[in-house]
Amino acid sequence: MIGLIWAQARDAAGRPVIGADNAIPWRIPEDFGRFKAITSGHPVVMGRLTWESLPKRPLPRRTNVVITSLGAVIGMATVPTHGEGSTTPPTMVEVAGSLQEALALAADAPGGDETWVMGGARLYAEAIDVADRLEVTEVDLEVEGDTFAPPIDPETWQPASTPDWTTSASGVRFRHLTYLHL
Ligand SMILES: NC(=O)c1ccc[n+]([C@@H]2O[C@H](COP(=O)([O-])OP(=O)(O)OC[C@H]3O[C@@H](n4cnc5c(N)ncnc54)[C@H](OP(=O)(O)O)[C@@H]3O)[C@@H](O)[C@H]2O)c1
Repeated sequence: MIGLIWAQARDAAGRPVIGADNAIPWRIPEDFGRFKAITSGHPVVMGRLTWESLPKRPLPRRTNVVITSLGAVIGMATVPTHGEGSTTPPTMVEVAGSLQEALALAADAPGGDETWVMGGARLYAEAIDVADRLEVTEVDLEVEGDTFAPPIDPETWQPASTPDWTTSASGVRFRHLTYLHL
């Protein structure tokens, strides 16, 4: 199973903003919690800029596969050691030169029956063609951005439910939509 996971707001033109200045221009703690619950124990695949934008690298208890043409990324050496016999999924970092290579590395990683592509824009646009599932958090906010989510073609993707809006502890309204490939 290959899933894409992202959160999107909208700009004044209605475009689905996912980032601005290599950061996410809102903060929804509940969405971080959901991201962690969905992806922990499974490999995550991301572009180099998304990797560099993470406040703490690598994401723990997951294999972090970073796509770059550079052959290496900052922070690779900070991977904590994993005690022998530990039952916690290991934290690992792998570097790939393409989406195809990244997905192959992810499939061989612990929990690789499920891989989560976690951005950014170019990766979402490329990976949506091979994905089985989309986990999209809609954020009820108008913001200016420079990075956008891919279009979700209703001929290809069906929402699994129509959830209600929730108000975050941070005051922003949001809702989670799961789309399944038709
Ligand atoms: N809202 C959300 O859910 C969410 C999620 C993730 C990210 N974001 C935001 O998105 C922005 C970052 O996204 P981005 O689109 O600018 O950058 P990105 O996709 O994270 O990284 C771009 C870099 O990744 C490498 N890359 C990506 N796709 C590749 C491919 N198919 N083949 C080879 N290399 C590839 C290249 O690295 P090299 O230049 O090293 O070759 C490229 O320059 C930030 O603002 C971040 O906060 C938001």
